[in-house]
Amino acid sequence: DTQERNADLKALIRTIPDFPKPGIQFRDITTLLLDPTGWATAIERMVAAVSGPVDLVAGIEARGFLFAAALAAPLKAGVLLIRKDGKLPGATIAEDYALEYGTDRIAIHADAFAPGARVLLVDDLIATGGTARAAVRLLAKAGAVVTQAQFLVDLPDLGGAGALRADGIDATALID
Ligand code: PRP
Ligand code: ADE
Repeated sequence: DTQERNADLKALIRTIPDFPKPGIQFRDITTLLLDPTGWATAIERMVAAVSGPVDLVAGIEARGFLFAAALAAPLKAGVLLIRKDGKLPGATIAEDYALEYGTDRIAIHADAFAPGARVLLVDDLIATGGTARAAVRLLAKAGAVVTQAQFLVDLPDLGGAGALRADGIDATALID
């Protein structure tokens, strides 16, 4: 199954306890990024899991940008940057979402794509899904068709990928 196939990649991710706060087990992908075979393999497997045509690959700042850029090139798709608020120079469409404490806001350029654009959403990791679900709402508000959401890592106990699937999004990850 998927988890057995990707055990080699899982071994390249390290866990750092109590970062950024006590009690959080931080899944650190920088060790996988540093491994030449690991990074290439991760991207190849994510590309292989793409279903159907894609016009744009949307990545969520900051680590999601790496995945969006790497997947878009072989898919011959464009790269859409979903940025934290206040970083984009043109007119934007934004979406707020709840964090553990307070709220945050993500944005895209209002003229980034025409309605009906087929968008693959990617990020390094999904935990509660607050970030990814806000990204889906933002893309939908801008007229995109979100064809799929892919992550390197899912933390299934936190329910984010399950919630995306309940929203009707085909959400998958290489590693649980
Ligand atoms: C991390 C990760 C996801 C998000 C997942 O990003 O890259 O975007 O958290 O958490 P959630 O499913 O509970 O919303 P972070 O906010 O740490 O930003 P970074 O990529 O800039 O480090
Ligand atoms: N983003 C949200 N939760 C995380 C975790 N446990 N490890 C790494 N990134 C995260």
